[in-house]
Amino acid sequence: MKTISDITCFRKIRKEIQKPLTLILTMGNLHKGHFSLIKKAKAINPQGIIGISIFVNPLQFNSQQDYVSYPQDIDKDIENCKKNGVDLLFNPSSAELLKNHSIKVKENSLSTHLCGKNRKEHFSGVCTIVLKIINIFSPQNLIFGEKDYQQLRIIERMIENLNLDIKIYPCEIIREENGLAYSSRNHLLSAEQKKDAPIIYQSLLAGKDLFEEKGASCKEIIEQTKNSIKKSKLAKIEYIEIVTCEELQPTDFIREPCLLATAVYYDNVRLIDNIKIYPSK
Ligand code: PAF
Repeated sequence: MKTISDITCFRKIRKEIQKPLTLILTMGNLHKGHFSLIKKAKAINPQGIIGISIFVNPLQFNSQQDYVSYPQDIDKDIENCKKNGVDLLFNPSSAELLKNHSIKVKENSLSTHLCGKNRKEHFSGVCTIVLKIINIFSPQNLIFGEKDYQQLRIIERMIENLNLDIKIYPCEIIREENGLAYSSRNHLLSAEQKKDAPIIYQSLLAGKDLFEEKGASCKEIIEQTKNSIKKSKLAKIEYIEIVTCEELQPTDFIREPCLLATAVYYDNVRLIDNIKIYPSK
C-alpha cells in the first residue's frame, strides 16, 4: 500500500495507474463500517485499485469543539488499511488541501431537512471537500455508507448535477450486535452511554413496526419513536423525521420508500441513525 499526503506526488502516482479506481472517502478512525465499504469496493471491481482518503474536514463541522475532539489515530488507520487490502491511501494536510480556499459547492434542496436543518454549512463543507478529493483521485467508482443517508443522496445529486463521470455505490449500515450503528464517534461515548445508545436503533425499529403492523401515519411513527428514545435519561434528541428516500422531503403518509431518521446527543457526542420504511404492496 502507498501512503501519500502530498497532492503533486499523489497525482504523479495516480497517473501511472491504469486500472479502474474505487474511492472511499473517510475522516479516519476506521471501524467495521469502513471495512465493509472496502469489502464492497473489492466486490464491485475485483481487478481494480482501492483508494482511501483520510481527512478530517474542518469545513463540515459546526463547532470548533467537535472538530478538535474528533477521534484520530492515523497509525492504526494505516495498519487497518493494509490489513484490509487498500492500495492507495491519501491523507493530505489541511494547510495544503485548503490553501487559498474561497470556493464552495452548495446543495439547495436535499439538504433542507434532517442534518442540514440545524447544520447550515455542513453539506456545503462535505460537497466541497468530496469534489476536491474526487478531482485529485479521478476515481471510476465511489462507495458511500447509508448511515449518512442524506450525505449519500447529496453526493449522488452532485455527481448528476455536475456531470461527474463516476458511479456511486451505496453500502448498507453495519451495526454492533446490540444494534448500535458503527461510527467513529462511538469511541467518544462513556461506558454508560455506549450501553444506552442501542435504544436509538430499537426505537427506529419499533417505529417501522408501527407502520408495518398498524399502518400508522408519519406523525404517529415520529411521536412513538420520540417517546421511546426519551425513555433514556442520557440521550437528547436533535431531530426525528420521516422523509422520502428520493427527495428527502417530509411526508404525512408512507406512499413511497421513506426514511425514518434521527440525530441524538450523548453530552457533546452526536450520533445519527436511520431505517427505511417501504409502503405496503
Ligand atoms: O462521511 C464522512 O466521513 C465525511 O463526511 C466525508 C465524506 C469523508 C467528507 O469529509
